[in-house]
Amino acid sequence: MARVFSGVQPSGSPHIGNYFGAWTRWATEQEAGHFYCIVDLHAITAPHDPAELRERTIDLACWLLAVGLDPERCTLFVQSHVREHTECAWVLDCVATMGELKRMTQFKEKSQGRDSVSVGMFNYPVLQAADILLYHAEEVPVGADQRQHIELSRDIAGRFNQRFGQTFTLPKATFPTSGARIMDLQHVENKMSKSAQSPQGTIDLADTEAATRKKIMRAVTDSGTEIRAAPDKQGVTNLLDLLSAATGSGVPALEAELEGQRYGDFKKTVADAVNERLRPVRERHAELREDPAAVQAMLARGAERARETASATMVDVRAKVGLTG
Ligand code: TRP
Repeated sequence: MARVFSGVQPSGSPHIGNYFGAWTRWATEQEAGHFYCIVDLHAITAPHDPAELRERTIDLACWLLAVGLDPERCTLFVQSHVREHTECAWVLDCVATMGELKRMTQFKEKSQGRDSVSVGMFNYPVLQAADILLYHAEEVPVGADQRQHIELSRDIAGRFNQRFGQTFTLPKATFPTSGARIMDLQHVENKMSKSAQSPQGTIDLADTEAATRKKIMRAVTDSGTEIRAAPDKQGVTNLLDLLSAATGSGVPALEAELEGQRYGDFKKTVADAVNERLRPVRERHAELREDPAAVQAMLARGAERARETASATMVDVRAKVGLTG
């Protein structure tokens, strides 16, 4: 039973790419020893609106619960509720080097040509390392864009252990082998993302069924009439992947089943399947939104459980580094 940690930022609106790409897998694989964290401290590294952050944190918790994360089976919590994250990050700040942080592609992209980028943005990967290392996570399920950050966490852990004695477990990133990589419906060359150019390309979990249908009906397809996954048919391939993710049927079986259908009918099939699959999740989310106090209570319990592990790690870290008390 591997110890698992993953984090998600409460920024932007959750979409079906998050759901089919990561969260359904979190929900099926969850067990004791898995930590799932809403990383609100990471969300303040870029300029933000406090009221919006508050709202998005609770809303994201509702979505994760609606998707099936079960506080009885895993630990779901909010990063800032467990103070050890910032404490650990400071210690790791003193182990990480400017050079390695400057090489982070995500920072280079986000800071490009801007002098006003926050120090927190620069330090972002060190806080992420603290998230992971506090729980001795062995596996960190993430998207490919996070590979470099997980390798940095591993390097920092190794260096700390070498300098101060065996303390941290060396984590490794895991990437979904199953599960779908859903692309933008308008710009199929891009992964579906919170920061898409147009909302038409992204289906939010919070979209209505009508909006979902409309976006799928307007999704770009390809010239030709065949419903077949192929490198030169990215639009159709993406819709087939989406249908596959929503129904659980494999793409080859779907190709056979849909042979001869027109694109318009195919899209209706996809829209129905996506809406059907999301219906219970959307309903559960709406119920949870009705009772924010219950959600807060669940998060408080999650934080308490997370703190048990995190504070034990910090006792060790403090002793190793020579901090007294
Ligand atoms: N940086 C991650 C992202 O943007 C979020 C994150 C923060 C995270 N801490 C983490 C992911 C720890 C995995 C493990 O997707």
